Amino acid sequence: MYLRNLLTLVALLAVAGVANAQSRFGEPATQEDIDKSFWTIFPDGEFLPDGEGVAATGRDLFEVNCHICHNFPGENDPVKDEIGKLFGIKDKSGRTNLQQTIGSYWPYSTTVFDYVRRAMPLTSPMSLSNSDYYALTAYLLYENGVIEEDDVMNKDTLPKVEMPNKDGFIMAYPDVPEKYKAKP
Ligand code: HEC
Repeated sequence: MYLRNLLTLVALLAVAGVANAQSRFGEPATQEDIDKSFWTIFPDGEFLPDGEGVAATGRDLFEVNCHICHNFPGENDPVKDEIGKLFGIKDKSGRTNLQQTIGSYWPYSTTVFDYVRRAMPLTSPMSLSNSDYYALTAYLLYENGVIEEDDVMNKDTLPKVEMPNKDGFIMAYPDVPEKYKAKP
């Protein structure tokens, strides 16, 4: 009995050793490792990846990947609204929505891409391609009345999109470098 426990322990340690070797614990990260886990997009668009998309593609992607939890504009499933209302004060159907959403609140268009890629779909974040995330961003911005239906979103165009509430913030830390400040 004792021997069997001992053998099990040895086997477990061996498995742990293999797992450990695969994670390359203790080795310095290469630039490639760092690039793979660096998902931050700055407000001015720095670090936006290649790829592009438009609202129509984004709508299809939304239906498949997002609609199970979020309403389309004009739908009013109260449970889905509770999860996260995505369409803001200037939505194109003219409805007023005083919740803090993309159109009514978010100061930077680039944050839409950053947030959706790093956090959504909730159960499999970062699972879509960068072009898919550009398309979803285009769709969300279009339905919030911020861009036109055919506007192509990519790393050049997205940072130029001005959000309706961009001036609604006060800089809590005025000494941060200029590039992180809200642009007039
Ligand atoms: C399994 C459910 C689920 C799915 C699928 C899902 N979401 Fe979400 N989403 C959530 C939840 C829950 C929150 C609120 C998270 C929080 O407040 O921390 C949220 C929040 C958001 C927000 C922020 C809303 C705000 O203004 O605060 C956006 C934008 C968003 N989701 C977009 C998407 C997109 C785009 C997809 C599809 C690619 C998607 N979500 C798929 C559950 C989901």
